[in-house]
Amino acid sequence: MHRIGVLTSGGDAPGMNASIRAVARTALYHDLEVVGIRRGYEGLLEGDFVPLTRSSVGGIILHGGTILRTARCEAFMRPGGINAAVSKLKENDIDALVVIGGDGSFRGAKELADRGVKVVGIPGTIDNDMAGTDCTIGFDTACNTALECISKLRDTASSHDRMFIVEVMGRHAGFLALETGVACGAEFILVPELPVDLKAISDKIHYAKQRGKTHSLIVLSEGVMHAAELAEKLKGRCDYDPRIVVLGHLQRGGAPSCFDTVLASRLGSAAIDALIGGRSGVMVGRVKGEVVESPIEIAWTDKRTLDPDMLRLVDMLSI
Ligand code: F6P
Repeated sequence: MHRIGVLTSGGDAPGMNASIRAVARTALYHDLEVVGIRRGYEGLLEGDFVPLTRSSVGGIILHGGTILRTARCEAFMRPGGINAAVSKLKENDIDALVVIGGDGSFRGAKELADRGVKVVGIPGTIDNDMAGTDCTIGFDTACNTALECISKLRDTASSHDRMFIVEVMGRHAGFLALETGVACGAEFILVPELPVDLKAISDKIHYAKQRGKTHSLIVLSEGVMHAAELAEKLKGRCDYDPRIVVLGHLQRGGAPSCFDTVLASRLGSAAIDALIGGRSGVMVGRVKGEVVESPIEIAWTDKRTLDPDMLRLVDMLSI
């Protein structure tokens, strides 16, 4: 093995640049060449490659987004797409690949591994919906970004005696909503993993108001429904005229937190260690503080579930 490719794919996540840097610098440390592949699998199919050097990954560690850019590439998963990618790697003498992304990107990586390409995955998504790691790169930063926004909303909610419904990302998973909801002391946290009980929400809000609470905050995961839909359903059922805020892509931007930067650096370096050690078709993750390797498909075959202790906390602390 002498030439390693690295790409970022799917939704960007803060910390991806720190991971690219760690991949490149660890590989260069071991006298391996590194090629950056722009725009994920799309760039791989098109041969959009750029050599990465020690200096070209300098100054990016604390930058949000991804210098390699990213894309969601349907053509890659269509018939012929994977084989075309394998040929592109061969033509360019790239004998191993590091894929930084979410479970969709890992499914593509697994297809490549099944065709003999040496591949290691690094979990990067704000959704935190992948098994094989306790935390995906970008999740911590996205939680902090959401929290900062919600704390500002609290100011105006309390000044105006209002209820806000804040819609956060997370796709089909409620990790982002649960974490930020607990951190901001939301009265309600609605996640796709649990049924929505409109009566319980309106009763609790009513009860809180009777006890003198003058404002209310609901953190809603986008996988449940849109904030506008929930506001419509709650109108007339509770004592507020709800205002809605959709945090959207704001949550994907910004400089990575200390936690994400360190996680991304450790996992980036571990991905190269795995390849040097002859492993392929694996993902690297952080489990109970340790860097571990697991078969890449664990990311989607094992389902991560919401921590029941966190769910209990919401019930106890939000009264
Ligand atoms: O997977 C990351 C994520 O930000 C999800 O939380 C969200 O549902 C989705 O990507 C949005 O994707 P796009 O940027 O393509 O609209």
